[in-house]
Amino acid sequence: MDRPRVLSGIQPTADSFHLGNYLGAVRQWVAMQETHEAFYCVVDLHAITVNPAPEELRRRIRIAAAQLFAVGLDPDRCTVFVQSHVREHTELAWMLSCQTGMGEAARMTQFKDKAAKYGESAASVGLFTYPILMAADILLYQADQVPVGVDQKQHLELSRDLAQRFNTRFGQTFKVPNPYILKEVEKITDLQEPTAKMSKSSSSPQGILDLLEQPGPLRKKIMRAVTDTGTEVLADEENKPGVTNLLRIQSALSGTPIPELEARYAGQGYGTFKKDVAELVVDSFAPIRERTEKLLADEAELDKLLAAGAERARAVARETMAQVRDRMGFLPASS
Ligand code: TYM
Repeated sequence: MDRPRVLSGIQPTADSFHLGNYLGAVRQWVAMQETHEAFYCVVDLHAITVNPAPEELRRRIRIAAAQLFAVGLDPDRCTVFVQSHVREHTELAWMLSCQTGMGEAARMTQFKDKAAKYGESAASVGLFTYPILMAADILLYQADQVPVGVDQKQHLELSRDLAQRFNTRFGQTFKVPNPYILKEVEKITDLQEPTAKMSKSSSSPQGILDLLEQPGPLRKKIMRAVTDTGTEVLADEENKPGVTNLLRIQSALSGTPIPELEARYAGQGYGTFKKDVAELVVDSFAPIRERTEKLLADEAELDKLLAAGAERARAVARETMAQVRDRMGFLPASS
């Protein structure tokens, strides 16, 4: 029986995933391995757009992979691999870049934000074409669904446009992928700046909760999270973005609906609420941290899991790429 396909990716650009990555994306990956034919990759080629030192990149790829297994991705139920192990990603990215307009690529807001932050000349061409590589990641696997946070929505739209354009020009080749974005967790925000996205590249250490962080700092950050001058624990995006963010986190990690949480803390002020959120986060992260540490202690075994994942991914990617080359008019390399 053919299950729908799912593909998603995460960058190894930090020494830990953060709570936004976990709730916005990775937790859905775990659920979807039960219902989909699932492919998940550590997108190391995306990570070099910001030029990490080689040792740092190597370390972070393994940390990212270990965390993926530690949160519950099971190599018997899904395919976890490293993007650069499957050469077809870069090949398809080139083909798709020739189908992408300059204006179209220039509209991507993530690039515009980064170029504005670092200066146009500091931003690499790779950073500019990055969404096209992401489209290649998705289209290679003929993914039906792509679980991501809302910050990736525009990139997903580009992937859909490119699939449709290619299909119109060269004949039906790619599935047109759908974003899978869970409204309640689509944008977990910075604890210190609760209207901004919790982000590896822009959050201050106080604003970000790392999955591999120790209980002490986690508790401290949550107790010091910006709330507002009132005292009521209510979800109100406009006037109480900090409290709303904490409620979303608590609801997602506990499975308790927000109205029920609001009722539980009625008349109690922020203190008890924050303490409960802190304990919940600490208890949710601790087993993931412990499993990650164990997986990292045996690099050979971890690399073996990734090699097996790459093998399975390659089989699918090769098939798509053979079709793409043929449809575009390339000659076979050998007969
Ligand atoms: P990346 O590595 O920045 O983030 C990984 C995933 O985490 C989600 N996310 C969030 N969700 C909710 N709240 C937040 N504060 C938050 N911060 C991050 C992201 O939306 C993402 O789903 N371009 C992608 C990686 C990528 C990819 C792909 C994704 C490359 N190829 C193919 C899907 C399919 C990125 O930079 O994600």
